[in-house]
Amino acid sequence: MSWFLSVFQSSIGKKYIMALSGACLSFFLMAHLAGNTFSFLGKEAYNSYAAHLHSLGGFIHVLEACLALVFLAHILTAILLFIDNLSARPTRYAVSATDRSWSASTMPYTGALILIFLVVHLLNFHFASKMISTADQVKTVLGNPPLGFFYLVALSGLTLHISHGFWSLFQSFGANHPQYNRFLQRGGLSMAVILGALFMLIPLLALTTDGFLQ
Ligand code: HEM
Repeated sequence: MSWFLSVFQSSIGKKYIMALSGACLSFFLMAHLAGNTFSFLGKEAYNSYAAHLHSLGGFIHVLEACLALVFLAHILTAILLFIDNLSARPTRYAVSATDRSWSASTMPYTGALILIFLVVHLLNFHFASKMISTADQVKTVLGNPPLGFFYLVALSGLTLHISHGFWSLFQSFGANHPQYNRFLQRGGLSMAVILGALFMLIPLLALTTDGFLQ
């Protein structure tokens, strides 16, 4: 327990918790996106993906509990780092002092937006009554203009957040060399834009295309 607390208290420990939880969340996002791309194949394909997910039974609840813990660790550590930075420490986690790109300096704000999104999203899907199929639920929620636009704004924030997050992740795991940094930075940005664009395509189609998920 004291080992756990000292990891949380040291700035290097916080940096690694951030990187490790960020890596787990990135894997979740990629898997979640892969599942959601079934929506592009139509209602039947999407509902059969959802049915397959639910057929995993108790195992899915274990994964959900692990995911909740990882989200919690990421958010708590981010808040601790934010407070550290407010008390004007000269060093920041995971990035060099010279790297103050727009995506880096907006991390706390895009993080807060993602947190609000997550609460709305879980209410929309995870805690929603299961009276209609998952495809109908997605079409109803995302096809509703205020909610659909909120999803688009939040997913833009997510794209900005992970564009810096991926780069920060590479650095935290030691991938930091002047010769490759530009390549890693562009790689992180490209991965974030592809992931964000594919996610955003879902509310865009729900808002604009009658036949989507029909
Ligand atoms: C347009 C994009 C998205 C769509 C259409 C979508 C759709 C869904 C659906 C249908 C579920 C319920 C799965 C089920 O139990 O049947 C779900 C759950 C969830 N989504 Fe999303 N999602 C999107 C984006 C995101 C993003 C960007 C995040 C994270 C930042 C996220 C995080 C979650 C979480 C944590 C759950 C709960 C996991 C669970 O129930 O097992 N989703 N999503």
